[in-house]
Amino acid sequence: MTHVIVLGNEKGGSGKSTAAMHLVVALLKSDARVAAIDLDLRQRSLSRYIENRRKFNEINNLSLEFPVTPTVEPSDLDSREESRRQETERFTSTLQALADCDFVVIDCPGANTHLSRLAHLHADTIVTPLNDSFVDFDLLARLDPETSKVAGPSLYSEMVWLARKHRAHTGVPGGIDWVVMRNRVSATKARNKRKMAERLEDLSSRIGFRLARGFGDRVIYRELFPMGLTLLDLGGRNAPVRLSTMSHVTARLEIRSLVASLNLPVPEERAAPSQQDVAA
Ligand SMILES: Nc1ncnc2c1ncn2[C@@H]1O[C@H](COP(=O)(O)OP(=O)(O)OP(=O)(O)O)[C@@H](O)[C@H]1O
Ligand SMILES: [Mg+2]
Repeated sequence: MTHVIVLGNEKGGSGKSTAAMHLVVALLKSDARVAAIDLDLRQRSLSRYIENRRKFNEINNLSLEFPVTPTVEPSDLDSREESRRQETERFTSTLQALADCDFVVIDCPGANTHLSRLAHLHADTIVTPLNDSFVDFDLLARLDPETSKVAGPSLYSEMVWLARKHRAHTGVPGGIDWVVMRNRVSATKARNKRKMAERLEDLSSRIGFRLARGFGDRVIYRELFPMGLTLLDLGGRNAPVRLSTMSHVTARLEIRSLVASLNLPVPEERAAPSQQDVAA
């Protein structure tokens, strides 16, 4: 069974592509078969990240791991109905063709597009990175301006709620696991950090997400993009780049902690090749 992980948040710049790339590489390093779909065809950050990785791998004669990278083109048909039908067909046939992958990681744009909604409808796990700011929090929930208490769900939460409702109707076993992770958490600003933590705790039980340990605000996340590397590629004797500071080591722990908290299914053992296969 292919497990679909969707990185989503309508707020731009929350860390979806960065988290997607780290998840893809973490899963590849656990020997899983992974596909990466970039639905942000305007920015193409995840695709560019993987292209950079291919170049870096080639130039340095390395043997880095790579996901399968199918593309799902948005429709350019004029009629909204026709264009949605075409995108649905493109999206579902791409997913069907990935049936032999253990995981499909889908990076969504920071906007509410039809393809992004489709991805959410097919998600087993939704990961929502959230910048540590109440401006970003506003996409998840409205806060009462007087009491600062959570007053109700917001745009993005309603989209996830619809995806969950849709899944319940389709009879697919298991619900959608929604995990929110704080991103770019500052090492200082203790007061804001505490307030965000309180509001998120309050919200998580009300709209049904789990909170995972997020990522700190670290320059290394930005520096690795041109090489196509992730923190999981650093360190070790044969690593292309060394883990050089305590901050890098902590960042790598953050990634591992995120992956562990997703409680992803362990891929089934690959069937051992038969004698016939070996002879062929
Ligand atoms: N933990 C972090 N520490 C420092 N910089 C970060 C961190 N996470 C992401 N960034 C940087 O923040 C910017 C936005 O990140 P990213 O592109 O992953 O967000 P996004 O949600 O995919 O954005 P968009 O909605 O535009 O697709 C990038 O420059 C990225 O390198
Ligand atoms: Mg992105």
